[in-house]
Amino acid sequence: MKKTRVRSLTPCSLTPCSLVGPARGARSARAFAALATLAFVALLGSADAQYAERRELPGSDHKNVDASGRSPKERRVRAIHSEIVQQPGATLQIQLTDPYLAYMLGRNLNFREFEEHDGALSARKTGTGGIANLGGPMPDGVTAKLTLQNQVSCIACHNIPNGNPGGGMNISKDSGFGRDTPHYFGAGLIEMLALQTRTDLLAAIDTNGDGWVSIPEAQAAPTSLTIQPHPGSPLTVDYGNPQLDGGTTGRPQLDNIIRPWFVDANGAWVEGADSVDGVTTFGYNLELIVFGWGQGPGRDALNPTVRFFMIDAFGAHAGLQAHDPTTMDDPDGDGISKPSNAGAIQFPATHQPPDQGVEVGAGLGTGGYSLADPDGDGYCTEISEGDLDYGEWFMLNLPRPAFAGTEAEHDVGVALMDQMACTSCHVQSWKIVEADGTHKGDRRFFDFRVTWDEADQRLEGELVPLFDLLGIGGDPLHAPRLGEYDVDGIFSDLRHHEMGDGFAEVGYGGTIARIWRTPPLWGVGSSFPWGHDGRSLTLDHVIRRHAGDAAASAALYVGASRADREELVRFLRKLVLYDIESLPADIDGDGIIADQLIVEGRLTGGERFNPEWLFDDPAQIFGTYVNEDGEIVNVLSVINLEQAYKLEQQYREDRDEEDGDGWPDEWDPDPLTIGWYDGVNNPPWWLDPTSGRN
Ligand code: HEC
Ligand code: HEC
Repeated sequence: MKKTRVRSLTPCSLTPCSLVGPARGARSARAFAALATLAFVALLGSADAQYAERRELPGSDHKNVDASGRSPKERRVRAIHSEIVQQPGATLQIQLTDPYLAYMLGRNLNFREFEEHDGALSARKTGTGGIANLGGPMPDGVTAKLTLQNQVSCIACHNIPNGNPGGGMNISKDSGFGRDTPHYFGAGLIEMLALQTRTDLLAAIDTNGDGWVSIPEAQAAPTSLTIQPHPGSPLTVDYGNPQLDGGTTGRPQLDNIIRPWFVDANGAWVEGADSVDGVTTFGYNLELIVFGWGQGPGRDALNPTVRFFMIDAFGAHAGLQAHDPTTMDDPDGDGISKPSNAGAIQFPATHQPPDQGVEVGAGLGTGGYSLADPDGDGYCTEISEGDLDYGEWFMLNLPRPAFAGTEAEHDVGVALMDQMACTSCHVQSWKIVEADGTHKGDRRFFDFRVTWDEADQRLEGELVPLFDLLGIGGDPLHAPRLGEYDVDGIFSDLRHHEMGDGFAEVGYGGTIARIWRTPPLWGVGSSFPWGHDGRSLTLDHVIRRHAGDAAASAALYVGASRADREELVRFLRKLVLYDIESLPADIDGDGIIADQLIVEGRLTGGERFNPEWLFDDPAQIFGTYVNEDGEIVNVLSVINLEQAYKLEQQYREDRDEEDGDGWPDEWDPDPLTIGWYDGVNNPPWWLDPTSGRN
């Protein structure tokens, strides 16, 4: 890409000016107000100790300072979900009018280290458990599956490279060898492919189109259900046999990645049913449990959507229970929710959030939060429905991994993968089809295209907006185009395989798992160590471990010339992750990566994707600062935090000078009293002088 010295980034370089926000004068008036607020907040030094985020400025005498600008800056305030755009600061309004802010808020939920007063870790919970307790049964129904509640942030584990949804450490899960943490770059693309595949599989067998598979439909179905990952190309993926194993009763014999659930004669989900019996259950429905390595025969993996992955991970790892009416919004009881704000259906038949908003003595609070406190730790609605809207939005739009090499190198690598039959499972390319009556299209609002610049020997990004601006006057809405998208270079068939003894794993309880999901190989070069158990410390080792369904392919690899094997491994090493926010990138679409980007009148350094600079009210950096050593530093902390992050909007506000307890004033029955529990009260032991915990 061409380079230039200085480039000024204004909202006008991204969208037609006439459509964007208030006039510049209004902005600077607000910026002035920001400085005034900042000065006021700075006087309230005591607020510091309460917040893990780093939002203060160098030289301010606060400890929560981050000159790099990468830490979450906005205070932890539960986000308020809404499905109409007229509620300022509620989720749909932010998602549609300020989508990069929604993305950033989701990012910060992923990267924030939650504190005890947010409800993290439930050490003192009144029920069972506590920090690092064991939970989740193995197939024997008794042996625990993993250590719960041992981290307070997603990036505690997903942190290579730091500040990204990377892979990371190996955790105590499933077996004594542990489970390797995968990256989740591109997770939204995978979710969209999984939901699209579900739609297509169902369409092939649900001949009357009522949304589920009846006994006669299952009987009439073909014995093998195939999908074209890339419509128009001859390659197919086989998802198994949709017929019931007992003919008119039993379970479908589909690929292990598919989880069926069983329904009554009207297609309504029957709780606890595990097969079609012709008495209470008369058919089934299905989903792709696309996320997770796999857990053995009939035990698919973990979660079907990014929204639910977030719910699950917060609950399991951090002891933060989510309350999510969106997931439970299933009026016809078919086990499928209405789409979330980001457009993804959820599957309440199989995946229900831990905080259902009901408990004796508690109940639904007004306005969409829950007072149930399922872990009894004294904090309610630890993760709100609105938080999940943002978290899902971030994960949906997450950039995908890249190839750090030339096209020629790419072609050589893929040719070798073809020759050794790797691509029969590690399918190179899928396609998200354009929205139509049944498909949703690409629901993201931007694509971050990352390619290799051979001249500079570096990866470079390009921000490609995928939305249209709707509406004249007021705040324009960013409507996703719902077009098609080639998910090139994913290298997975999104199904499971019997991998023989190579990856066999004796679980904690003694069961043996040999069936695993074909992991997408994008990013594999940055995903050390390898294999579901992280037991391969080289790529060569993980390839040699392939057995079972992959035995023939592995034999081709082992039998290939040393030069070809090394070439293949070199190729895999070039399938990389990168630091999303510091990668040199063309953000304003002028085909140039500027050496200096001016945002809100300040030189920020080279052009790159910092979502904060794309906000409706772009973040303004602190700028030049002389540090302890007398050096001049460009400090990227933000000085107009209140404006940029819309902290003062009606549905976001939790005023510091009042209580700042993480309950938005809109929900808080008493915005002047600190009440970490429910906006008013604090956990009982804080009030109980005999607890010894004051
Ligand atoms: C304690 C470490 C740890 C924490 C904390 C953690 N994860 Fe994970 N994550 C893992 C491991 C290990 C897996 C693979 C689990 C498996 O398949 O058995 C995983 C898998 C995932 C996947 C699926 C990726 C794939 O390719 O299948 C997503 C998405 C994900 N995590 C998101 C999150 C989010 C969001 C959070 C925070 C809310 C989070 N994780 C917190 C360790 C962690
Ligand atoms: C039969 C399907 C199949 C074939 C063929 C196959 N793989 Fe795999 N591959 C898998 C599965 C399943 C796993 C996950 C194994 C595990 O860790 O449990 C995997 C894992 C991997 C991994 C590790 C990924 C990670 O994130 O740790 C690499 C690398 C890999 N395969 C490369 C190859 C190459 C190269 C070939 C061709 C020589 C190949 N595979 C052929 C199914 C296949």
